[in-house]
Amino acid sequence: MKILITGGLGFIGSHTAVELQKEGFDVVIIDDLSNSSEKVLEGITAITGKKPIFEKMDLRDKKSVEDFFGKHNDITGVIHFAASKAVGESVENPLLYYENNISALVYLLQQLQKKEKAQFIFSSSCTVYGQAEKMPITEDAPVQQAMSPYGNTKQIGEEIISDVAKVSGINAILLRYFNPVGAHESVEIGELPLGVPQNLIPFITQTAIGLREQLSVFGDDYPTPDGTAIRDYIHVVDLAKAHVTALKRLIDSKNTDKVEVFNLGTGKGNSVLEVVKAFEKVSGKPLNYKIVGRREGDITEAYADTTKANDVLGWKAELTLEDALASAWKWEQKIRS
Ligand code: WQD
Repeated sequence: MKILITGGLGFIGSHTAVELQKEGFDVVIIDDLSNSSEKVLEGITAITGKKPIFEKMDLRDKKSVEDFFGKHNDITGVIHFAASKAVGESVENPLLYYENNISALVYLLQQLQKKEKAQFIFSSSCTVYGQAEKMPITEDAPVQQAMSPYGNTKQIGEEIISDVAKVSGINAILLRYFNPVGAHESVEIGELPLGVPQNLIPFITQTAIGLREQLSVFGDDYPTPDGTAIRDYIHVVDLAKAHVTALKRLIDSKNTDKVEVFNLGTGKGNSVLEVVKAFEKVSGKPLNYKIVGRREGDITEAYADTTKANDVLGWKAELTLEDALASAWKWEQKIRS
């Protein structure tokens, strides 16, 4: 079965392409290469021995999307990763986010709603919960007023999908990721942040390899045991496997609703300082960091209640934070060698 992965040369998309191919799916990747490189195709192929079909495309071009589905009219399964995803940038340039993240989604759904039956997996984010009241966070925690245009595009995207699924043959699963980290054990693929990394783990590995002078820890005055903010860091390979499990659930019509939601995390929270200490342990290198003020828009704490993902979806994270940090470090050393 041929599956379309939009943004399939990106961090999570490329790892998902590998897991789909391992499960025997044929993979077609669309990517606009705005935040990835065609070299990632070689990495995927090196791992699985199968080169995905790749089409460079801007999903904001409605005609291109129509032509694509005309050519690949046997595609009914789509995993949609393609989106702009930098929280800070979205505040500076909201219309880039609303155009890229919403119009592309609409054009894809317009094609899928023509099909008798279609499977749509949407890359969403725990950011929709804002600062949740209760930990761990369950799927019925209230979706709160978005803290950024990026987060808002995820909320709006979920609503659009729900509305369309009600009146079409589209069956959808919304996957709300916590914090994706790490790299494939082969280090043929991994995270390739452009410019100065926004996220914690790539900033840590770039500091350790000497690309960055020092890690700034954004705030140690949070109401947490060591004062630094807590997140649920999930290995990207575990996350990728969850996408295959979700897709199979829809293909096998095991879903109990037209749209289902799952939180994807490990269920364990770690503070920034705990991550720093764990990195020093796995890398054997002391990390140069300093405590600075909080980052605008950051929440104190977020970690997943994994009950629904474990018991209903039938997926459970297996890799640890240390596994993720070790693979991220191995990847950083490889790409800088
Ligand atoms: C993690 C923790 C920072 C960098 C965001 C998006 C989310 C998803 C993942 C896209 C926080 C601290 C970070 C640094 C630091 N993105 N930190 N120094 O903000 O939890 O989530 O990225 O899908 O939707 O909201 O991830 O890695 O930026 O930060 O102290 O240089 O590390 O304050 O506590 P975040 P992050």
